[in-house]
Amino acid sequence: MTSLKEHLAEELEAWELKILPSSYDIVGDIAIIRVPDELKHRAKEIAEAIMRINSHVKTVLNQASPVSGDFRLRRLEWIMGEKKTETVHKENGCLFKVDLEKCYFSPRLSFERARVASQVKPSETVVNMFAGVGCFSILIAKKSKAKRVYSIDINPWAIRYAEENIRLNRVGHIVTAILGDAKNVIKERLEDIADRVLMPLPEKAYGYIDFAIEALKPDGGVIHYYDFVHAGKDENPIRKVEEKISRKLCRLKMDFEVNLGRIVRTVGPRWFQIVLDIRINKKN
Ligand SMILES: C[S@@+](CC[C@H](N)C(=O)[O-])C[C@H]1O[C@@H](n2cnc3c(N)ncnc32)[C@H](O)[C@@H]1O
Repeated sequence: MTSLKEHLAEELEAWELKILPSSYDIVGDIAIIRVPDELKHRAKEIAEAIMRINSHVKTVLNQASPVSGDFRLRRLEWIMGEKKTETVHKENGCLFKVDLEKCYFSPRLSFERARVASQVKPSETVVNMFAGVGCFSILIAKKSKAKRVYSIDINPWAIRYAEENIRLNRVGHIVTAILGDAKNVIKERLEDIADRVLMPLPEKAYGYIDFAIEALKPDGGVIHYYDFVHAGKDENPIRKVEEKISRKLCRLKMDFEVNLGRIVRTVGPRWFQIVLDIRINKKN
């Protein structure tokens, strides 16, 4: 497939090509690109090129703000095609319906979702603390023999779409969507029940680790812990997060072992999203 830059090589000037983003996301039949302010006058040509390259794309949106706030939302502006923000995305054999203006969604987590799902063992109970429209939760229900998956989110729209996705993927006998702040939901109804806890919200995971531990069964289990980190050229970003979380777990007097650490994706110059798979032994 030719790249966007190659496609626009004749139409844009050299300086314009230089600041044109080389990547963009496709969710279902919607493409999302961050058009720099200096290229706003070229937005239609850029959108046209995206639609030429990806014949199934029906809508092109500009991401006009970074992801922010408790619900992790971004401002989206219509550039071309159908005026809509709702779509159905196919990933790892699942269907995810999402309104991109009302809920967080990233197709860039596809490999990570499959990686976590592949680790779930038969009969496990899983708590997903920051579940969005249910992607990790539904994939786990479809690809493993988990007994139960609790899919928590604080955004009522995310829960509404999660419920629809649970129906679409026929996993209602396994996945339960719960609206609320993960820490309250765990305190009220999910203490001591989980073999595995997912914390896919790097901005909050560190502050919520105590609640993840509370959700684990009395003899412990696995936590998938996500964080953002900046690492200089001579620093190891995975090691940095490992040291940070190890200090906290030692303060909490936990017996633990980091089984795996990996860079999920690069999110800026020397900024990384990291995941650590941590086994916690609560009985010590
Ligand atoms: C990065 S998104 C999750 C992405 C999701 N796991 C996926 O694969 O698409 C983080 C989610 O956490 C939710 N959230 C933020 N604070 C929360 C809290 N205190 N309790 C529960 N959910 C929360 C947001 O509404 C958002 O949907």
